Amino acid sequence: MNILIVGSGGREHTLTWKIKQSPLCKNLYVAPGNAGTALLAENVNIGVEDFSALGNFCKEKNIEMVVVGPEVPLVAGIKDYFKGKDDLKHIAIIGPDKKGAILEGSKDFSKDFMARHNIPTAASKTFTSANLEEGLQYIDNHSVPIVLKADGLAAGKGVVISETREDAKATLKDMLLESKFGNAGSKVVIEEFLNGIEISVFILSDGDNYIVLPAAKDYKRIGEGDTGPNTGGMGAVSPVPFANQQFLDKVEEKIIKPTVEGLKKEGIDYTGFIFFGLMNIKGDPYVIEYNARLGDPETEVIIPRLKNDFVEVLKAMANKTLNNIQVAFDERHASTVMLVAEGYPGDYEKGRRIQGLDKVTDKDVLVFHAGTKLSGDDVLTNGGRVISVTAYGDNMKQALEKAKATAEIIDWKGKNYRKDIGLDLLSLSAAE
Ligand code: AMP
Ligand code: GLY
Repeated sequence: MNILIVGSGGREHTLTWKIKQSPLCKNLYVAPGNAGTALLAENVNIGVEDFSALGNFCKEKNIEMVVVGPEVPLVAGIKDYFKGKDDLKHIAIIGPDKKGAILEGSKDFSKDFMARHNIPTAASKTFTSANLEEGLQYIDNHSVPIVLKADGLAAGKGVVISETREDAKATLKDMLLESKFGNAGSKVVIEEFLNGIEISVFILSDGDNYIVLPAAKDYKRIGEGDTGPNTGGMGAVSPVPFANQQFLDKVEEKIIKPTVEGLKKEGIDYTGFIFFGLMNIKGDPYVIEYNARLGDPETEVIIPRLKNDFVEVLKAMANKTLNNIQVAFDERHASTVMLVAEGYPGDYEKGRRIQGLDKVTDKDVLVFHAGTKLSGDDVLTNGGRVISVTAYGDNMKQALEKAKATAEIIDWKGKNYRKDIGLDLLSLSAAE
C-alpha cells in the first residue's frame, strides 16, 4: 500500500525507517519530513495542519494509510477531516479523532476522565479567570511544590512547578490574566506535586483491543544530572530497569485497562497510540499526563525493539483486529542520545552544516534525524533537536556507550548532548 507519514522529527524518521522495511509498503511519503526521511521516502512539502493539501495529495498518490506523528494535527481533527470527505474516508488514519485526542488536548478533560474512571493521578482542581480568587485561595491552602498546567496544547511548555505559593500565584495570574500560554492557558489545572521517578508507557489501541509496547524513560532536562530547563527530550532508554513485571502489571490493571474501557464507555472509538506519562511512587504508578501519540525520543528506542512487520500491526489497528497480532520485541537494550543545537531550549541558530554522518559505521547504531534539512549535498541543522543517535546493546551501559561514541563522530558548530542518559538508572538498580 501507499503510505503517508505526517510530521518531521526523530519520531517520524524512526517510523519511516520501520515502515520502509515492510513488504506491505509500496510507496512511502513524509509530509514535510527532514533530511533523514528523504533518504528512505519522498518528502512532500505540506505542513502538518494543512488538511486540504494533505487530502489532495492522498487522492493524487492513491494513499491508503496516513500515520500521524505529532499531536497538533490530531487535536485539530485531521481524522475527522478525512472521515468527513467521501473521497478520503476510505483512508486508514493511524491516530485518534478529535474526541479521542482531547485526552492530550485538554488537561482539564483528562483529569475529569481519570476521576470518572478511578485512575490514579495527582489531586487537582481547574480554574479560569472567572474564579481566579478561588484559585489563589486554593494555592494558599495547598502544600508546595505545586504544579500549574495550561489546559491546552503548549508545545511542552505549559507546565510550571512552583516552589513557593507566591510564585504559584504569580504564575496563575500570568496564565489567566496575561494569557501567558495564549488560549491554551485560559483554563489552568492546579495539582499536587508527585514525587517519584517518571516512566513512559505506550499502547496501540484499535478501540476494542490494545497492545502494550515496551516501557521507556525520557530525559527532559537540558543539563546533566537532570538540571536546567525542560526540553522536548534529550535522550531515552528502553527497557527501564525499575519497571519490573510487578510494576507493569499494576500499570495495566490500574491505568491501561480502565483508560481503554473508559474511552469505550464514553463512546470514544480510539484508534491510535496512547502515551501514558507516569510517575512511579514507591512502586505504584500515577498518571501525570496522557498523550494521543508516540513520544519523541521514546519512539527512537521503542520502535527499533519491535520485531513485527509494523505495517501489518498498523493495518490491524485500523481494522480492529489487534487481538490477532502477537508482538515480539528485541531483548537487547536501546538507548538514544539527542544531539541538540547550541542554545537550545532557548534561542538557537539553524542552518549549520552537519559533518560526519557518512563516518558512522557501527552496525548497532541507528541515526535518526530530528531537525535537519537538505541543501544540495549538505545536511543542515533545522531545529533545536537535531539528530537522535540510537544504539542497541546487551545492557543499557553498552547501548549508551555505543550511542555516545557515534554522537562524537557526528558534528557541527555548537553541538550539545547529555552524556548521562540512563546513568541514574544504573546506580538505582545497583542500589536495589
Ligand atoms: P507535561 O508537559 O505534562 O509532560 O509535564 C512536563 C513535566 O512536568 C513532566 O514530564 C513532569 O516532569 C513534570 N510534572 C507534570 N506534572 C507533575 C506533577 N503533578 N508532579 C510532578 N511533576 C510533574
Ligand atoms: N518525550 C516526551 C514527549 O514526546 O512528549
